[in-house]
Amino acid sequence: MPRQATDLQQEILALKAERNALILVHNYQRGEIQDIGDYVGDSLGLAYRAREAEADVIAFCGVHFMAETAKIINPSKTVILPDKDAGCSLEESCPGEKLSAFLEDNPEKNYYVIAYINCSAEVKALSDCICTSGNAVKIVEAAPVNRPILFVPDQNLGAWVMEQTGRQMDLWQGSCYVHVEFTRDSISRIREEYPSAELIAHPECTYAVRMLADVVCSTEKMVDYAKNSLASHFIIATEEGMLHRLNNEVPGKTFIAGPTEHCACAECRFMKMNTLEKLRDALRDLTPEIIMPEETRVRAEQPILRMLELSD
Ligand code: 13P
Ligand code: SF4
Repeated sequence: MPRQATDLQQEILALKAERNALILVHNYQRGEIQDIGDYVGDSLGLAYRAREAEADVIAFCGVHFMAETAKIINPSKTVILPDKDAGCSLEESCPGEKLSAFLEDNPEKNYYVIAYINCSAEVKALSDCICTSGNAVKIVEAAPVNRPILFVPDQNLGAWVMEQTGRQMDLWQGSCYVHVEFTRDSISRIREEYPSAELIAHPECTYAVRMLADVVCSTEKMVDYAKNSLASHFIIATEEGMLHRLNNEVPGKTFIAGPTEHCACAECRFMKMNTLEKLRDALRDLTPEIIMPEETRVRAEQPILRMLELSD
């Protein structure tokens, strides 16, 4: 709760109480939304909070696959997403029909499919286990050794996990349109400006950027890393919303947004579709609501539960 909540924030908090709602917020959301969240975190933390939620309504301030995941693992709740068009380029890169056709065309492979959580319920339903950037290494290490792994949809996260584990995997050729905008040149230039700063990069960044980083980790781990590091300055190669959380929770240290070739910082247009106004309307009208066929939900739930068990 911000020290000085605006009228709109207060209106939202009143509606939240009226609806018996829980507000879950991803680290890339606008600062004014983060400030009224019951929990602000990465995809993994949000999945745990969604599973244990007891409120009647989950107002999910993030992108569609995150709200969908909440509905899959806690189906008796009403799950609302302030903007139903808040998608994700990774989800788009791997439609369920394409993955299904690929698996049917390659039955001899007997793939163990690990899907990054940034995918649709249909893709989750076709997968053996889900992972997030926070637990991908653990999930891949726990995969059966006698089956080849198909990792979907993020080739950069997949490549990073291969580097960490030494395990070969076939990688779906998807990528996050935000993180691939950081380049070796754009990051090298800002490092020259702040030579003592540490570089923290998300694993969705390309190899060229990951190679320059002091640490590669999920958004939640960025907070712990910055708290525990002896450095005072950090360049953050991820979506700019992360800086709000870092500035709030790690006072006294300086966070510099990683620039791209074209912009001073990287913004995810999908994450930024949610606004306080849309959150207020969603809580008032209980729409847009996440709804999916029960058959898909049940099949998508198994690999998510497997992930949660493995990373407990
Ligand atoms: P995190 O789970 O690390 O927060 O990542 C989510 C995401 O969408 C990164 O672009
Ligand atoms: Fe998807 Fe990239 Fe936006 Fe994350 S930052 S939600 S991976 S498009």
